[in-house]
Amino acid sequence: DVQLFDLHTFLPKPYEEALLPRLKKAHEELQTGTGLGGEFTGWVHLPQAYDREEFARIQAAAKKIQSDSQALVVIGIGGSYLGARGVIDCLCSPNYNLKKKETPNVYFVGNGLSGDALSEVLDLVRDVDFSVNIISKSGTTTEPAVAFRFFRELLEEKYGKEESGKRIYATTDKARGALKSLADAEGWETFAVPDDIGGRYSVLTAVGLLPIAVTGVDVEALMEGAAEMMNVCADGSYDSPAWQYAALRYELYRAGYAIEILGCYDPAFRFMTEWWKQLYGESEGKDGKGLFPASVEFTADLHSMGQYIQEGRRILFETIVRLGASDRQLAVPRDETDGDGLNFLAGASMDHIRDRATEGTLLAHSQGGVPNVIVNVGGKGPRELGRLIYFFEYACGLSGYLLDVNPFDQPGVEAYKKNMFALLGKPGYEDRKAELEAKLTE
Ligand code: PA5
Repeated sequence: DVQLFDLHTFLPKPYEEALLPRLKKAHEELQTGTGLGGEFTGWVHLPQAYDREEFARIQAAAKKIQSDSQALVVIGIGGSYLGARGVIDCLCSPNYNLKKKETPNVYFVGNGLSGDALSEVLDLVRDVDFSVNIISKSGTTTEPAVAFRFFRELLEEKYGKEESGKRIYATTDKARGALKSLADAEGWETFAVPDDIGGRYSVLTAVGLLPIAVTGVDVEALMEGAAEMMNVCADGSYDSPAWQYAALRYELYRAGYAIEILGCYDPAFRFMTEWWKQLYGESEGKDGKGLFPASVEFTADLHSMGQYIQEGRRILFETIVRLGASDRQLAVPRDETDGDGLNFLAGASMDHIRDRATEGTLLAHSQGGVPNVIVNVGGKGPRELGRLIYFFEYACGLSGYLLDVNPFDQPGVEAYKKNMFALLGKPGYEDRKAELEAKLTE
């Protein structure tokens, strides 16, 4: 569920009523695909309408990778990587690769242009059996395409052309693009990013599901959770938590808050916040509008960003994700000498201490002028995460429509690409190259 702590301090009531007609319209547009960018609303019914045959192939490929590989290299950027990384970190731990386990390590590359980062993973997999999942909807994104060259070369060196082809899985457009043509020509197994689903809404397609399934996470439970939330969100009323969240953040935006900080008290959630930042930042940040999505990891950031949040410019609000009980309960040991004065906590569980810190922070930040929205998840399993993913996606679609922007395009990400291509000397960019080089030497 979604709550706004101390509502009256921050927003005039009843803000919901004034917004209801607009929420209803946004909801209907999402449900019917008739709003801005409606051709990219395939994710709305995906948890129920997904391709079962492909889902079975994903599970079979995951089993094969588990049986013949000690590592899976996942190559992708933005929406082609953050969801899988978020779910794996959250459900398997950020230390997944360091743990003793039966399933392969998972390395994410192609999400930047650092030669060191790439070399490090090349070294890590050089002497182990590995497979590659190259993920790119367009099939032409520079970062993953460049990384893929290196890993393909390494695979071919290790296994020869034929065997290496059985270790490459390409997730891309079902019919178009350079990666699709290459995969068909080389005979690699392919999975589809549906035409009507953009990158940042694609975690519940093969884009996210194959890497997630390789770690042994129950992807059926993930989809079931998403389907449950899909049914909740299909109800066009203010009972929907997505309506409540979209309305709250929109009203806070209108009241002058410019930055939404997503926080969680579990470091395993860090990459879910990265996924959320892309989802909201890329969906809303256009036409000079939108909340700036930021993130914190509590309590670590209470000792750094906590200062700004408590006393800096009053343009922030926080959305705190409360996951619920930890998997393992730890109690603070008693120490007879009590040299650190901590015996008042002896026997207390870590969850108890965390929850008091959460409450104390909530009171301090909201009294300091930072509204707090609380999202209660109720657990850290695949079903709960599936519910949360769909909730955030649906609220994001609604939020975009409340702002009157197209939540499914990203024209702004093209500008850097054009400059980069020009400066790298890509054919066709000659004029721009000269112009940019002149600017750089001004
Ligand atoms: O949300 C988006 O559309 C982007 O983040 C893309 O996912 C990202 O740029 C990668 O694109 P592609 O999958 O085409 O390589």
